[in-house]
Amino acid sequence: MDAKDVASDLDAVLLTEEQIQQSLARLAREIEADYEGKDLLIVGVLKGALMIVADLSRHLNRHVQTDWMAVSSYGSGTRSSGVVRILKDLDTDISGRNVLIVEDIVDTGLTLSWLLANLKSRGPASVEVCAFLRKPEAAKTQVDVRYVGHDIGNEFVVGYGLDFDERYRNLRVIGTLSPHVYS
Ligand code: IMP
Repeated sequence: MDAKDVASDLDAVLLTEEQIQQSLARLAREIEADYEGKDLLIVGVLKGALMIVADLSRHLNRHVQTDWMAVSSYGSGTRSSGVVRILKDLDTDISGRNVLIVEDIVDTGLTLSWLLANLKSRGPASVEVCAFLRKPEAAKTQVDVRYVGHDIGNEFVVGYGLDFDERYRNLRVIGTLSPHVYS
C-alpha cells in the first residue's frame, strides 16, 4: 500500500494542509497575546496531538517548553470506552507553571475533564486547553476549551495525527473515512 492508497481511503477532505496551518497561526497569535510576559508549558496529549504540537509550537514567536502525556480513552474502534488511563506521565513538575493542554479533538469531553482535574491537582499557576477540533457534544459540555481550531460535525475524522486503528495519522490533511474502510 503506498501513500496514494492511504489518501484514497478518504471520503472527503475536511481541512487542507493550508487551512490547518492558517488555523494554527491564528491560535498561535492568540496564545502569544494571552501569555505575554508569562512562562508557557505546552502539554501535548499523545499520540493525536503530535503534529499539532509540532506545528503550533513552531508558529509561536516566543519561548515555550513542551512535555507529553499519553492517555488511553479509545480502544481500536471509533467509540469512546469512557475509561482513561495514564500510559505516560509528564516529566515536568508543573507546580506554579502556566500549562496549556493541547488536544487533537474533543468529542465527549471525558478525556479532557479527567486530564484537567488531574493536572489541576498538581498545583499549576493556570491550566488552559487548546483543542484543534471540537465535536458538537463537547461544545455542549462544561469543559472549558479556551482555544478551538475548528468546530466540526459528528463524523469520525482521521489524518494529521488522528487515527483509525492507529492508521492515517501520517496524512497531511484531515478528512472523513470512506465506508469501505470499516467493512
Ligand atoms: P473524548 O473523551 O470523547 O472527548 O475523546 C477524545 C479522544 O477520542 C481524542 O483524543 C481522540 O483520540 C479520540 N477521538 C474522538 N473523536 C475522534 C475522531 O473523529 N477521530 C479520531 N479520534 C477521535
